[in-house]
Amino acid sequence: MTQALSIVVTVNGVAYERSVEPRLLLSDFLRHTLGLTGTHVGCEHGVCGACTVLLDGHSARSCLCFAVQADGARVETVESLGTVDDLSPLQEAFRQHHALQCGFCTPGMLMTCIDLLRNYPLAGDADIRAGLSGNLCRCTGYEHIVRAVRAVVASGWRP
Ligand code: FES
Ligand code: FES
Repeated sequence: MTQALSIVVTVNGVAYERSVEPRLLLSDFLRHTLGLTGTHVGCEHGVCGACTVLLDGHSARSCLCFAVQADGARVETVESLGTVDDLSPLQEAFRQHHALQCGFCTPGMLMTCIDLLRNYPLAGDADIRAGLSGNLCRCTGYEHIVRAVRAVVASGWRP
């Protein structure tokens, strides 16, 4: 067995020190070690975007990162956005515009949107579609997701 390594990762503002095997994926670290199951795992090889989190402020596929690569880093997951009783404006826009059905892609969609809203001007639908093009959704046809993001951009809200 490979020797475990000690890492410290700040997730949603809380510093976690854990011993992990070098091969442990960041997605599994979040879900199984920390119990933060909001981050979903779909394809497990970087295609679907369901596992997207923010790593030091930028979207990253947590199924393509090892937990040890996040040592000393800041990770934000969907749990940082809001709660069932207190949705963030982005989550509320998804709800209002029917931007989810089964919800499996939604955590990754939301975290990608946070990156887009923080770091890109999103001047129109083409920008929104391009920004979300790495996240797959089998249910919505994307139009309602674009509508939700468009509404957030128009509202002026920024995360
Ligand atoms: S589970 Fe990571 S990209 Fe699909
Ligand atoms: S809402 Fe079902 S995959 Fe997107």
